[in-house]
Amino acid sequence: MTETAPALRTTRFVVSRRKEGDDPGALRYDTYDVAVGPRTTILDALVAIRRHLDPGLTFRHSCFHASCGTCGMRVDGREGLACVTPVPSGAEVVVEPLANLPVVSDLVVDMEVFYEAFDEAGRPLVRASESVPGSTPAEGIEELERYEDCIECGICLSACPVAGSDPRYVGPAALAAAWRVVEEPRGRDPGPVVRLMDDEQAAWRCHLAWECSEACPSGVDPATAIMRIRRSAASARARRLFSFGGTR
Ligand code: SF4
Ligand code: FES
Repeated sequence: MTETAPALRTTRFVVSRRKEGDDPGALRYDTYDVAVGPRTTILDALVAIRRHLDPGLTFRHSCFHASCGTCGMRVDGREGLACVTPVPSGAEVVVEPLANLPVVSDLVVDMEVFYEAFDEAGRPLVRASESVPGSTPAEGIEELERYEDCIECGICLSACPVAGSDPRYVGPAALAAAWRVVEEPRGRDPGPVVRLMDDEQAAWRCHLAWECSEACPSGVDPATAIMRIRRSAASARARRLFSFGGTR
């Protein structure tokens, strides 16, 4: 029996074409009509546009399977990884770069500030040795693995309403990374990380919108991490207060 090919439909892609240094208020979009099937992803369509319609369209990708974190963008206003986001069923779809980071070209943003925040959060964590003979995984290792799953895509920062209004905010991904350090510091003193995150531009700047956790494609749940950092920071403050006889 021969399999019938899935029916194709035409979707109009409305794609942001801003360049570095452009006036952020001066929006420019180009439109492209692309034949898509039920399994076509946004990344498939962008690759087709670049190959057949516009070789100048700029976007980033690598793995095609939600691992490298490079293809984060907004599709009809919602953040997602283009490689695993199916083309929506409507006649038109709007594709834009991540928000809250400077645009370099079209759908590519400058991630430098985002990566720098990870350094502040004490990542990457490096063990003194790979393994301890006879050791068993720490209790609660699954909970820690959740933070290891961060693919540094920047989607949480784009979805965060606070980051949109305050560019100095450390951001949800770095705070989740910081909580990973506090939970299992691999022999380091986590105190400096807690003190760094106990700041009005860090853990206390979050407004509990939970958009970061909703949007995260890896299930990292930065919002819960932020709540835990706050609790840890508040306990550390209380300990300091009592150890100095309440004269802080
Ligand atoms: S926490 Fe989630 S959304 Fe944020 S950078 Fe990591 S994987 Fe991406
Ligand atoms: S291409 Fe790697 S996460 Fe999408």
